[in-house]
Amino acid sequence: MTKHSEFIQQAEQFVKRELSGEASGHDWWHIERVRNTALEIAGKEQADPVVCELAALLHDVADEKLNDSKEAGLDKVRSWMLGHTTDLDLIDQVMDIISTMSYNGGKNPPMKTLEGQVVQDADRLDALGAVGIARTFVYSGAKGRIIHDPGLSEEILAQEDYRSSNKTAIYHFYEKLLKLKDLMNTSYARELAEQRHAFMELYLKQFYSEWKVRD
Ligand code: ADP
Ligand code: NI
Repeated sequence: MTKHSEFIQQAEQFVKRELSGEASGHDWWHIERVRNTALEIAGKEQADPVVCELAALLHDVADEKLNDSKEAGLDKVRSWMLGHTTDLDLIDQVMDIISTMSYNGGKNPPMKTLEGQVVQDADRLDALGAVGIARTFVYSGAKGRIIHDPGLSEEILAQEDYRSSNKTAIYHFYEKLLKLKDLMNTSYARELAEQRHAFMELYLKQFYSEWKVRD
């Protein structure tokens, strides 16, 4: 038993309770994958595994989509941690990561700490590859959006300034997923991202070829 293993177990139970029934891509298994990937990257990059594991576990509890506001979500996480550990420095490190790691169109400033970079990479990796494709269609379906609009060519979708009120699932690849590989912080995550990116490109190629056959 390391110093924080009980706290980590309690955090796991807290997150499972908070996210139970979440169907928009933030279910417990997303958290579990991000946690495992974060620990794997932390090992390669010599980041603090306790900070990475806790931030990965807690990163989506404060999500605006699940709370009245981002501040209310962050307060909930901070209060929970204050009730379960006396390590205030650890609380500050975790809060700093989860309050600054979201995608926000790639516009947020770079993560300050190595641990923040690791957890952000792990979360972004889960939006890529086969799992990322599945999450995209689930999210889009939950919003009642269609898969694809053949009137929107690949060229139109790839335009920086393309805006539509009824975005398709396929549009999300161009809006976000295909950009993530170049936004990875750590070199190990970049390697993993390259593979997942290549798989998404292959997927899109196959998708368009099947769509064409049925035109
Ligand atoms: P996270 O920070 O955990 O990646 P997000 O809320 O940004 O969470 O997204 C959850 C999942 O839903 C991700 O896989 C993301 O790519 C996908 N997603 C987010 N926005 C859209 C969208 N407009 N259309 C389709 N999928 C989306
Ligand atoms: Ni996440």
